[in-house]
Amino acid sequence: MKLLVTGGAGFIGSNFVHYMLKKYPDYEIVVLDALTYAGNLENLKAVEQHTGFRFIKGSITDAQLVDEIFQQGIDAVLNFAAESHVDRSISAPDIFVQTNVLGTQVLLEAAKKHNVSKYVQISTDEVYGTLGPTGLFTETTPLTPNSPYSASKAGGDLLVRAYHETYGLNVNITRCSNNYGPYHFPEKLIPLMITRALNDQSLPVYGDGLQIRDWLHVEDHCSAIDLVLHNGKAGEVYNIGGNNERTNLELVRMILKELHKPESLIEHVKDRPGHDRRYGIDASKITRELSWQPRYTLETGLKKTIQWYLDNEAWWQRIISGEYRDYYRQQYGS
Ligand code: NAD
Ligand code: DAU
Repeated sequence: MKLLVTGGAGFIGSNFVHYMLKKYPDYEIVVLDALTYAGNLENLKAVEQHTGFRFIKGSITDAQLVDEIFQQGIDAVLNFAAESHVDRSISAPDIFVQTNVLGTQVLLEAAKKHNVSKYVQISTDEVYGTLGPTGLFTETTPLTPNSPYSASKAGGDLLVRAYHETYGLNVNITRCSNNYGPYHFPEKLIPLMITRALNDQSLPVYGDGLQIRDWLHVEDHCSAIDLVLHNGKAGEVYNIGGNNERTNLELVRMILKELHKPESLIEHVKDRPGHDRRYGIDASKITRELSWQPRYTLETGLKKTIQWYLDNEAWWQRIISGEYRDYYRQQYGS
């Protein structure tokens, strides 16, 4: 099988490439990635010698390049490519629309033209908006995105749906909760808190820190996408989540405890505008229909992830010493 994995140099995409080449060593994987600030070829170092692996630097918005790639024969597309950070979408929304909406349409058009047998859109639970204190997101929860990021992801999802309904393209959409694990860019909550705590720096918690996220280890996300790719029913949406709801404060305290660092490092800062209060996923459909089960609890997954950051300091030090430092200054002030 020959897969096109877009955004494969990012956090989840690179974990997916590792997962698939380990499980299916005879598969071919073409990674198309624009190498934005979030894309990092170091994430793919372990597979670059694999005979079935090929990397192409380019954008999913480049219709000509995308068409050329499909001409070489692609069996299935997994679209991970996206602008993915909510805070960046608040300060600069336009690139989110270009990549997450227009880029998705370029891929769909090529998939249709070249009769690709499966298109999987890697989406997010954030398209459902926010939950109150009770209830969970199901696949039929109305889309009510609250940030430019989630609105652009919802726009992409609607195009994917339309290509199935109108042209019969064999699509699936996966909507996953917050991931964590190796190669997670240190602008997101968990790696940000781990790396700053290791440097004895303050930990910026937005508002009261009582917002709730439903955490899933990235390997469990990858196993779910693998099942959807091979067994997902045409046109279906699958929610993916680990039943691991925690407030941000609880999570930050778990990290501090594991690193033997004091809670006095926590610093409450200005809240994110339009901040979603709670996400919680009902993953019973993928469990029932595709027999998916997560392997990690938050406790086991977080421990392993913290160890990865301890063992791979050079990876994150290189990131936080460069472009990211400027972004951090802009986001949080001096
Ligand atoms: P990421 O920001 O770490 O990686 C995104 C990758 O896409 C980067 O390698 C980047 O270079 C690439 N990219 C960006 N614009 C591109 C373009 N125009 N053309 C080609 N490549 C481009 O993101 P992530 O956290 O790995 O998320 C991957 C996908 O999963 C996204 O679609 C995101 O919406 C979705 N998702 C993420 C989470 C999470 O918790 N991180 C949860 C659910 C869903
Ligand atoms: O739910 C899936 C989504 O999870 C994905 O679609 C997104 O791509 C991914 O970035 C993530 O979005 P969140 O906004 O939930 O993740 P983030 O790590 O940015 O923030 C998690 C929570 O922590 C959120 O409530 C905001 C809070 N936070 C975040 C940062 C960066 C802080 O309190 N302080 C911070 O400095």
